[in-house]
Amino acid sequence: MRIVPLSAAVEHRETLIDWLWQAFGSDNSRDFFASVIDSSLSGADLPLTFVALDGERAVGTVGLWRCDLISRQDLFPWLAALYVAEGYRGHGLSAQLQQTVIDCARQRGDRQLYLYSACADYYERFGWAYIGDALDYPATAVRLYHKALE
Ligand SMILES: CC(C)(COP(=O)(O)OP(=O)(O)OC[C@H]1O[C@@H](n2cnc3c(N)ncnc32)[C@H](O)[C@@H]1OP(=O)(O)O)[C@@H](O)C(=O)NCCC(=O)NCCS
Repeated sequence: MRIVPLSAAVEHRETLIDWLWQAFGSDNSRDFFASVIDSSLSGADLPLTFVALDGERAVGTVGLWRCDLISRQDLFPWLAALYVAEGYRGHGLSAQLQQTVIDCARQRGDRQLYLYSACADYYERFGWAYIGDALDYPATAVRLYHKALE
């Protein structure tokens, strides 16, 4: 298993778009997730997309984004779009993907990371601190998490 920037494995672009669309999107939002993925291939410093590979097969993804929650643009940067392929769940790959983003953010000099989730009692087990609730547009309550990188 290895985790690489999507720019080094662009042949998996369509797979990642479909995963994010299915996991986090709605009927007509595939183009939205295509734009998210493509913006991470533009060569800008952020956003970044990583892909986990088992041989040549894509089995997971995660992103390091400027902002994942429009209502909290004071927070920066964000771990976002974490997804593990169904047959690969339950073996700790999520933790490896999170660590890839943590290491990347540290190397960039970021001193904090944020994420948001609808799930309770998941990110706590990886050392994320719940710091309160927020609103995903327009009115969905979500949980905010913080990790200090110092
Ligand atoms: C959530 C996800 C990234 C976990 O990946 P993973 O590599 O299987 O994670 P791990 O092996 O580290 O952990 C698996 C554990 O997470 C738990 N888990 C999975 N989805 C969960 C959820 N939505 N809420 C709470 N716990 C969850 C599993 O029950 C399992 O618990 P156990 O270790 O006590 O058996 C993966 O299931 C996924 O991509 N799901 C689809 C996207 C999604 O639901 N994202 C929202 C996450 S809150």
